Amino acid sequence: MNNRIVVVGSINADLNVLVDRHPAPGETLLGSGGHITAGGKGANQAVAAALQGADVAFVGAVGKDPYAAPALEFLRSSGVDLTAVSEVDDTTGLAVITVAKDGENNIVVIPGANSLVNCDYVSSQSALLAEAGILLLQGEIPADGFKEAIHHTMGRVVVNLAPVIEVEKSALLEADPIIANEHEAGLILDQFGAGIDSMDPHELAQALLDAGFASVVLTLGSAGALVADATGITDIATPTVQAVDTTGAGDAFAGAFCARLIKGDSLIDAATHAARVGAYSVQTAGAQASYPDASVSLPSV
Ligand code: RIB
Repeated sequence: MNNRIVVVGSINADLNVLVDRHPAPGETLLGSGGHITAGGKGANQAVAAALQGADVAFVGAVGKDPYAAPALEFLRSSGVDLTAVSEVDDTTGLAVITVAKDGENNIVVIPGANSLVNCDYVSSQSALLAEAGILLLQGEIPADGFKEAIHHTMGRVVVNLAPVIEVEKSALLEADPIIANEHEAGLILDQFGAGIDSMDPHELAQALLDAGFASVVLTLGSAGALVADATGITDIATPTVQAVDTTGAGDAFAGAFCARLIKGDSLIDAATHAARVGAYSVQTAGAQASYPDASVSLPSV
C-alpha cells in the first residue's frame, strides 16, 4: 500500500465557550473563554495522523479572512501537505463549541469555505487522490465531494461519517472500516433502511456488517471501542483518564487509527493505539492543541 494518507475534509476555526452546564432550550447562560483554536473534523484527523508519524496530504479550503491563519496553524506545524488547500472567496469554516464542566461539548458548524469542497473541486485534485494509500473522509463536506473523492482513489477508504450526511449507499459501502459512534451508527443504519431498536454496540456493529460494510469500528467514549469484521467482534479497552474537554477526541482516534493502519497494523492493533491517543487528548482543552505526537508517553489501560 502507498504510505500516504489523503484527507478530503473540513478546516474550521473553533470558537470555544466554557459553561458550567449546557443551556436548556430557550435559556441564556453566561460563559467564558471565547478564544479561537484550530478545528474541523478533517483537519483534526489529518493533524492527529501526522503527529503520529504519518505522511498526510489534505484536500480542502479556507476563506480569505482572519480565521484562516489560526485554523491552519497545526496543519502547517505538523507537516501536513497543504498544496491542495485553496483560499476561496468565502468565510473559513467556523465551529461554535460549548464545553461544560464535565468535559462534554455541543458543537454547531457554519461550513463556509468547506462547502466548496464539492465534486468539481475534488475532481480537480484527482492526481493527489490517485496516490493515496488511505483516503480518509468525514461528513463535513458536500456529499458530491465525498463521493467524488472515493471515485478517484485506488487506496483503502476509511470513513468517519461525522456528522451523518446523506451519501450514496454504494459510495459509503466502500468504507473499510466505517468509524462511527453509537449515535452515528444508528443514523447510518436508518439511512440504509436497516435501523434497529437496540443501542447495544455489538448489535449495532453486527447490523452495519449485515448492511454490507466490510469492517466497522465503533467508538464508545470512556467505554472504549469495538472492531468488527467477518472474523468477529472485538472489544477495545480505553485508559481511564480525567476528562477536561472531549472536543475532537473522536478525530484523534480516527487520525491515529489511520496512521497505524497505513503502517500495516491490524484493525485491532490500530484501534488499541487510537483509543490511547483519544484518551490522552481529552485531558487538555481544545481539539488539535490536545493531540500527542509519537514521542509522548500515552496513558495505558
Ligand atoms: O470533532 C470536533 C470538531 O467538530 C471541532 O474541531 C469542530 O470544528 C467540528 O468540526
